[in-house]
Amino acid sequence: MILSPSLLSADFGHLAEELAALEAAGITWLHLDIMDGAFVPNITFGPPLLQALRSASKLFFDVHLMIEEPARYIGDFRAAGADMLVIHVEADRHVQRTLTAIRALGCKAGLALNPGTDISCLRWLARDMDMVLLMSVNPGFSGQAFLPITYEKIRDARRILDANGGEGVLIQVDGGVCPENTPLLVEAGAQILVSGSAFFGHKPYAQRLAAFMAGINGRALRPEEEALRRRKDILDNGTLLC
Ligand code: DX5
Ligand code: ZN
Repeated sequence: MILSPSLLSADFGHLAEELAALEAAGITWLHLDIMDGAFVPNITFGPPLLQALRSASKLFFDVHLMIEEPARYIGDFRAAGADMLVIHVEADRHVQRTLTAIRALGCKAGLALNPGTDISCLRWLARDMDMVLLMSVNPGFSGQAFLPITYEKIRDARRILDANGGEGVLIQVDGGVCPENTPLLVEAGAQILVSGSAFFGHKPYAQRLAAFMAGINGRALRPEEEALRRRKDILDNGTLLC
């Protein structure tokens, strides 16, 4: 499992120090929430901030685009330093085209689905993405309650991906993730967990990371996780932690 802390809950007055503290604690991924005030009822930040963070950090930048027609901005976010760009299926009429365009930029491509969105599209898009992001809250804000229906959705997504050439596609879960539900999420098949409010504000970060890992340490890796561990192309910039 890789924990990808969501910057939205970090101390915005001291971002460079926050990134340094994450790296020192053994964190390898950083989740960056981009909101446009249209797809979701909130506005965050854009490529200039990403670029500033890039120059201060070697973390794998996992960029969650909660914006309408994301194809308009993928070039800007890639140039600013994104390692993975995740678009919402609900925000783009031509998802397969945009995923392909993201990969053509030399970037990992991810597809996000809101809690109420059906996952059958994964059958047709399994080969076009490196990661699927299953939202476990309705996007827009950190600090919302986790939706338990997510466990079943993870299992269904894994089955559909594996049956359609997407065995190497990572499953990420975002929203209301905490140390208490982490073992169940990993057991269901989640490989990348995003956490905002349950991670930031709980220093020291090495200790907080250990709290997330506590319930899953020692569990044997399943064959597909072993396969993922070997997928250097996906994990170049991050390492599996268990
Ligand atoms: C929600 C964002 C999440 C959020 C997670 O729209 O996509 O990444 O910051 O925050 P928590 O972990 O507090 O739900
Ligand atoms: Zn997010």
